[in-house]
Amino acid sequence: MRVVERILDLARWAPSGDNTQPWRFEILADDHVVIHGFDTRERCLYDIDGRPSQIALGALIENIAIAARSVGWEAATTRRGDAPETLPRFDVRLREAARPEEAPLAQFIEARSVQRRPLRTRPLTAAEKSAIEAAAGPDHRLRWFESFPARRSVATLLFHNAKLRLTAPEAYAVHRDVIAWHSAFSDDRVPDGAIGLDPMTTRLMAWVMRSWSRVAFFNRYLAGTLVPRIELDLVPGLACAAHFLIVARTPPATIDDYVSAGRAMQRAWLTATSLGLQLQPEMTPLIFAMYVRAGRRFSSEDALWDRARELAQRFEQLAGSDMTGAVFMGRVGEGPAPRARSLRRPLADLILR
Ligand SMILES: Cc1cc2nc3c(=O)[nH]c(=O)nc-3n(C[C@H](O)[C@H](O)[C@H](O)COP(=O)(O)O)c2cc1C
Repeated sequence: MRVVERILDLARWAPSGDNTQPWRFEILADDHVVIHGFDTRERCLYDIDGRPSQIALGALIENIAIAARSVGWEAATTRRGDAPETLPRFDVRLREAARPEEAPLAQFIEARSVQRRPLRTRPLTAAEKSAIEAAAGPDHRLRWFESFPARRSVATLLFHNAKLRLTAPEAYAVHRDVIAWHSAFSDDRVPDGAIGLDPMTTRLMAWVMRSWSRVAFFNRYLAGTLVPRIELDLVPGLACAAHFLIVARTPPATIDDYVSAGRAMQRAWLTATSLGLQLQPEMTPLIFAMYVRAGRRFSSEDALWDRARELAQRFEQLAGSDMTGAVFMGRVGEGPAPRARSLRRPLADLILR
């Protein structure tokens, strides 16, 4: 494999919302790659204004920089100003480094993975927290929610938030398409084994989610959202060391701000992995709050809009003035690595010819 291919082959392990991998590569020369980005805002409720996809592209670009460093090269990435925001393009220039640097995070790029199951509540040590904070870099800071009452507040927010997620027909369409049922691994989606439900509920959900009418019936008459919300939101929301927000020091406004946030997120996540910690993004409260702040109705159902407004208020009470700069939310803690996880499309499928 050429060096450029080795770098991309490692970098493609970057995380992306629902494992969409919104990137393709055009290798123009051994020292020049064009990243063809895209977003899924047209079909995915969660990809508001393409921001989550832009965060994922940031993670990819950070991975490329780390992977290049690990082979004694360096990568400089710039966004092309003339490409539309929905199809962003980035030029990556690679060259051998004059002064090679260490890349201690490179060995964790492939091992880093979402853990959606309960984690231990052992608090993070001061050293662990400061390593994660330092990794986020000077343009971003971390806000921690660690005490039991703070974790309970976040867990409650997630529990209410999940009701919105599980009762919106627009979200159903996304979940139906991105979950790979009856599997522990998937190249291009999220396997059901990685979601965090017990085997019986997983089997039931697989059946219910085959049609919206089944989902609606379950939700209405059988409290269908209750068990998943307890297993996926309430329990993991309490069972962790901390929840955290990554807050941009200057409120994000442009695609470059979100790409930069993605780079910070990836360094922080890889650092958590290097410390033996597990992490799960918790982006949906942030995403619904963005819809509310922009006054954009995301659902055909009025009741859901009212619920979203209540949730945004709850979130604001929790985060205060950090709301405007928040670019990422998640939980972290000690625990075993997940046994089921998303894999990636093979490099050959990502290369444009
Ligand atoms: C911007 C962004 C938002 C995400 N939001 C969530 C989320 O709200 N909940 C969640 O469980 N995982 C979330 N994920 C994790 C992805 O689903 C995960 O990275 C992807 O499926 C690949 O799996 P892996 O990270 O285990 O390799 C998010 C990832 C990114 C980059």
